[in-house]
Amino acid sequence: MNYADLLIHSAHTMATMKGYSERPASGESMSEIGLIEDGAVAIRKGIIIAVGTTEEVRLGGWVGPDTRQISAVGQVVTPGFVDPHTHVLYAGSRENELSLKLKGVPYLEILKQGGGILSTVRSTRQATDVEIKAQTKGRLQTMLSMGTTTVEVKSGYGLTVDEELRALRLIHELDGEQAVDLVLTFMGAHAVPPGYNDVEFTNYIIDEMLPQIAEQGFAEFCDVFCEPGVFSLESSERILVKAQQLNLKLKMHADELASAGGAELAAKLAVISADHLLQASDEGIAALARQGVIAVLLPATSFNLAKNSYARAREMIRQGVPLALATDSNPGSSPTESMPLVLTLASLYLRLTPEEALAAVTINSAHAIGRADQVGSLEVGKQGDVLILDIPNLNYLPYHFGSNPVRMVIKRGNVVWGA
Ligand code: NIG
Ligand code: FE
Repeated sequence: MNYADLLIHSAHTMATMKGYSERPASGESMSEIGLIEDGAVAIRKGIIIAVGTTEEVRLGGWVGPDTRQISAVGQVVTPGFVDPHTHVLYAGSRENELSLKLKGVPYLEILKQGGGILSTVRSTRQATDVEIKAQTKGRLQTMLSMGTTTVEVKSGYGLTVDEELRALRLIHELDGEQAVDLVLTFMGAHAVPPGYNDVEFTNYIIDEMLPQIAEQGFAEFCDVFCEPGVFSLESSERILVKAQQLNLKLKMHADELASAGGAELAAKLAVISADHLLQASDEGIAALARQGVIAVLLPATSFNLAKNSYARAREMIRQGVPLALATDSNPGSSPTESMPLVLTLASLYLRLTPEEALAAVTINSAHAIGRADQVGSLEVGKQGDVLILDIPNLNYLPYHFGSNPVRMVIKRGNVVWGA
């Protein structure tokens, strides 16, 4: 008999997210999270082999003499969180910009003055591989401790061919050197560096960067900061069309600071996800829904930009746009690693129910990075990425904030954090 290596049992509530591995949850189905009371999940060789009530899994004969058994009595069990939008590879920090922000200097004005993203470009270029990796590993470890088991990481603090290739190589190396699985995105179109205008840098990305990034073969997605004053709609479209020709999948930072047709372009190009969307128009939201583009919402960024402006999540759900949530972890607009914080902000300011928010950080965020066949739900055949949360019920997850609800993180069947 092929017994389980690990059994987690007796969970007060287990949210499986069952049934949405083919297509992301949207509309009312975002509330159907496959709850099992007195839940259990069994894992063998890193893969889930049984899911059900504790009694069902025990009677299934999966538990042998060497199976490690962990009780989650009185606690909540969920899939590992999937964070589908981060800029977590960088060196340095930008706490010096906080006073400017508090004086009211806008985010894009700080960038225009050579700060913001360009400040992190300088500190990252100056850092050694070892320094960048050590700092990033620390952040990934923080993410893991708060329940994140898969993370999308973008390049974009290099902005030359060599520096962008280096960033992607470092993310690729880090993927193999710590527990969190990484998904790689090329984002040379993150800011326009000094000495170029939008069109000139777009030409450089298309003619020089993208062919070499594709040849290197590490990046799976291409993303663009489509925003008036950064990359125009036309430039964004040119970059993404070229990326698609090179077999990269597409993502967009769209309608973050101004409503400028970003969501409409995302739908036209049938990108996998359109992210931010604070200022998405009615027509843009309708177009995303028609095309089935996933909206990745980043409420920690809205919170940290402190403008009391959040994406219209309820309208998106009403129109049938599948929602995912991410930290946007980066040194400027969202210096945090915490998915639990994102869940609280999504509840209070995006008005998501705990069920909807959980779908948005698990199965739907797995879809947003093309990993829903492997992670994001507790189903037989999926990777054994499981959280035991030290909370009495699911409502408690967004409700209690500022401390870590995670008791234990299991990655591919191994306990990688907690006890
Ligand atoms: O998603 N919007 C552009 N890029 C990041 C910010 C990166 C930074 O400020 O360093 C974002 O918010
Ligand atoms: Fe971002």
